Amino acid sequence: MVLTPVLSRHWDDADSFTLEGYTRRGGYTALQRALTMEPDAIIAAVKDAGLRGRGGAGFPTGMKWGFIPQGTEGQAAKPHYLVVNADESEPGTCKDVPMMMATPHLLVEGVAIAAYAIRSSFAVIYVRGEVLHVIRRLQQAVADAYAAGHLGQDIGGSGFSLDVVVHAGSGAYICGEETALLDSLEGYRGQPRLRPPFPATHGLYASPTVVNNVESIASVPAIVLGGAEWFASMGTEKSKGFTLYSLSGHVKNPGQYEAPLGITLRQLLELSGGMREGSSLKFWTPGGSSTPLLTSEHLDVPLDYEGVAAAGSMLGTKALQCFDQTTCAVRAILRWTEFYAHESCGKCTPCREGTFWMVQVLQRLETGTGTEEDLATLLDTCDNIFGRAFCALADGAVSPIVSGVQYFREEFVAHMQGRGCPFDPVASTVFAATAGGPA
Ligand SMILES: Cc1cc2nc3c(=O)[nH]c(=O)nc-3n(C[C@H](O)[C@H](O)[C@H](O)COP(=O)(O)O)c2cc1C
Ligand code: SF4
Repeated sequence: MVLTPVLSRHWDDADSFTLEGYTRRGGYTALQRALTMEPDAIIAAVKDAGLRGRGGAGFPTGMKWGFIPQGTEGQAAKPHYLVVNADESEPGTCKDVPMMMATPHLLVEGVAIAAYAIRSSFAVIYVRGEVLHVIRRLQQAVADAYAAGHLGQDIGGSGFSLDVVVHAGSGAYICGEETALLDSLEGYRGQPRLRPPFPATHGLYASPTVVNNVESIASVPAIVLGGAEWFASMGTEKSKGFTLYSLSGHVKNPGQYEAPLGITLRQLLELSGGMREGSSLKFWTPGGSSTPLLTSEHLDVPLDYEGVAAAGSMLGTKALQCFDQTTCAVRAILRWTEFYAHESCGKCTPCREGTFWMVQVLQRLETGTGTEEDLATLLDTCDNIFGRAFCALADGAVSPIVSGVQYFREEFVAHMQGRGCPFDPVASTVFAATAGGPA
């Protein structure tokens, strides 16, 4: 399998982010073509292409667009909104930010096409607040697109008008959850909404709304130009097309690798130069820290939605964080759990209380003061959280813990027996000195 740079093709060009550079490379021709098509024909093309949402859940994008009620009665008569989820805060996930920095117009063009398809005249790009450089770049791109007539009134004389706003969030992970994002956009505290009703009918300002990830929307111009068949010729039976895999951790060349869905981590490591010198893969996340850990046994798992699910995890955001033999699994899991406890929005008890207590227990286990009973309590707490919380943040929080104990139970036990972290040079000296029995 080879790399298939489509979204990332021009990232290394000096002027990839300017309107001039983008236009010179054929930018905005997909929009011109789209505006000659019926909106429903664009939805059909995205459906036929088999594009699935790149924000984590893999929901079919064309189907989502098709849920927007059309007509003049009831909800359909309300304004339709397109919201791009550019909150990207999942630990390990770092694909949308480089894409928006390198080719912001690809996203703007995708926004214009998607908005036309769902018959929306107002779109928002909701960007994570900390990435000020990205916000500025997007704002410039949107302003330039307005000036060039790609946004605004009567685009290209087509009769279609679109306003686009770049909105900065305030740096809360939960605001990446689509309904919390909508509450945040409306000026409320960002907390997930009860569903149903779904955003397709009652989204932003209780009106029909599509929420899509940056990469999902940025893939649309290529589908319009290349055709559904071309897009679907890449990937696997149920996971079509190309996508960005974010390789990070103890690898020689971390970065974004664009490849067809279904490539394996082994192939990606071969294409990218492998693990760093002297490293061997110990564990990895297929799609950010919210997806269950995999190990070196899973190097040949096809990285598509079905393949990763069959291996007991999820493709998620395709954030492949690779950890080598020098990493303490218990410590890594504790760090992630601290993140989830910090980011829990507090709306529901299993997550608010559970993530707090999981941190307490994990701290004991990591520092070597934990017991077998703590380990059992930890797994019991996970069991009581999974599937019982209001949104997927909590399910994500238990993923590294349950899978970590499954694969590295002996490492948890070694912390107890050694009364410290075996990976910590000081603690392991104490372990060696006191080996043979608890102090
Ligand atoms: C806690 C949490 C954080 C999320 N963060 C993001 C995010 O930063 N970006 C994103 O696109 N989707 C994120 N999602 C998924 C969104 O809720 C939603 O599924 C996605 O934006 C839909 O877009 P897609 O269909 O194009 O994938 C998050 C979900 C949860 C539960
Ligand atoms: S699961 Fe956590 S983040 Fe989601 S609503 Fe409940 S408290 Fe908030």
